[in-house]
Parts: sequence; C-alpha cells; structure tokens
Amino acid sequence: MTDRYAVIGNPIEHSKSPLIHAAFAKQTDQDLEYGRILGDPGDFAGDVRRFIAQGGRGMNVTVPFKEQAFQLADELTERAQRAGAVNTLSFTDGRIRGDNTDGAGLVRDLGCNKLFSFAGARILLLGAGGASRGVMFPLLGENPGTITIANRTASKAVDLATLAEDERVSGCGLDELAGHLFDLIINGTAAGLKGEVPPIPDDSLAPDGWTYDMMYASEPTAFVLWGQAHGAARALDGLGMLVEQAAESFHIWRGIMPDTGAVIETLRA
Ligand code: ATR
Repeated sequence: MTDRYAVIGNPIEHSKSPLIHAAFAKQTDQDLEYGRILGDPGDFAGDVRRFIAQGGRGMNVTVPFKEQAFQLADELTERAQRAGAVNTLSFTDGRIRGDNTDGAGLVRDLGCNKLFSFAGARILLLGAGGASRGVMFPLLGENPGTITIANRTASKAVDLATLAEDERVSGCGLDELAGHLFDLIINGTAAGLKGEVPPIPDDSLAPDGWTYDMMYASEPTAFVLWGQAHGAARALDGLGMLVEQAAESFHIWRGIMPDTGAVIETLRA
C-alpha cells in the first residue's frame, strides 16, 4: 500500500512541499503520496487524527500550526523542544512524534550548499518569533563568534537570547544596532509579508557580508533587494532552506537523504 504524507497549514494552496516531496520520492524510488491539507485553526488535532485514521504516516506542519503540533506530539526530539515548535510529525505505533527540521535546513543550505563559513562569524538574527527561535540553536551549533538577536519589540529579543544560555548570544532592539558590523544578517521577521524590511542601519553589513531571508517568493524578496543594495557578497532567499528542511523530514520518514541540488534548481527555474 502506498504510504501517505501531507503538509498541513492555513493557507496551504501555494505550498511547494507536495512538489518537493514528489521529486524526492521519484528520485529515491519510494512508493508514497504527499498531499496538502487546509487545516482548521479551531481543530488542528482533529485534522491530524483524521489523517492518521486514513493511513497517514507523517505530516509537515506550517503556519499557523507549528506550536499546536508541538502541544499535540506524544514525544518530542530535543531540537523540537528547543525550537518550541514542530514542523515534522511521524505516526508510528499509535504515537505522534514531533521534530523540527527548520534550523537544520537553514544551516545546511548556508553551510553545505552555499559554503558560508560559520566559524567565528558575527551573525545578526532579525526577529524574535517562532522563525528565529527555530534556527537559533542550530546556528549556535555551527560555532559562530556571536549571534545578536534584534527585534522591533526589544524585550522579546532579550527573552529569546536568554533562552540560549550562551554568552555569545545577546538580544536588543532594532534601534540599538548602530556601530555594529555583521558577517551574516538573517531575516526571520514577518516584515516581508508586507513587502517591508526591518529598519536596520545601512552600514550593518561587514565587507564580504552575506544576507539571508528565511522567506522565499518567486520574485526577489524585499530583504534580498536590501542585501543587493547594501553590498552583500551574497543576498540569498529561503528557497534552499525550504528544500533542505523537506529533505530532513523525508529522511526522518523514509531513512533516505534525497539529493536536494537538482530540486532547488528545478524550483528556481
Ligand atoms: P513567526 O512565528 O513566523 O516568527 P511571529 O511569532 O508573529 O511569527 O513573529 C514575527 C516577527 O516578525 C516578530 O519578531 C515581529 O516583531 P515584534 O515581536 O515586534 O512583533 C517581527 N515583525 C513583524 N512585522 C515586522 C515589521 N514590519 N518590521 C519589523 N519586524 C516585524
């Protein structure tokens, strides 16, 4: 019997996950189908349980359900606990297991695909919501010099930085960045949804510094344009992260790591 998987979110119609997982399945010769489910904000647990009852083996979880998936899981991996959110559910032996592959996806896209050198890097992480929390610990695992979390609401950045319990991590307001230089600026804010860029100083980027927008769109995002206009050696969007987090989920479910390069190229085209 064909194994069933799906991505659940709201909205969901523009999700690229079915395309990505279909490509992985074809490439690795795995017999599976992968659909999309428009989740009911008032009954996320019901949606998940119905999918399990229909033979579902696993789910990817996207906005706005990652925290609810975290609550629903019977078991959590350490990285999901640290992220406080779940983007990958696996259903085995009547139990719901929650994991989070977002941070691993970002780190692999930057480090393995784009060859960014994390060691000693001064990283600025913009935003202090779920997106930033999801990548903070995986970034720390790459041995950067510092991670500065800057947020519109400064107290949230300070709270998130405190969670890290690591002297290399600090939190501040967006208005406290003057005079600081960064080798990598990552945008984890929701500003891009409105075509906006968080207000940071024009001279925040060190020579040869990179920018990375966790968001992805078919056109360059506002933050990619900001990077290009401010001399970024590379101004990247989140397409690679999207494919890499999917590959990590696929590996959890199927025990096989797909080749992501060709899939990233196809989606970009
Ligand atoms: P997510 O879980 O996707 O990260 P979230 O928890 O709503 O979403 O967090 C959104 C983040 O984007 C927050 O850090 C938010 O800043 P505040 O904490 O001050 O609300 C940030 N954000 C949203 N719109 C922004 C904008 N126009 N400029 C700067 N930051 C913005």
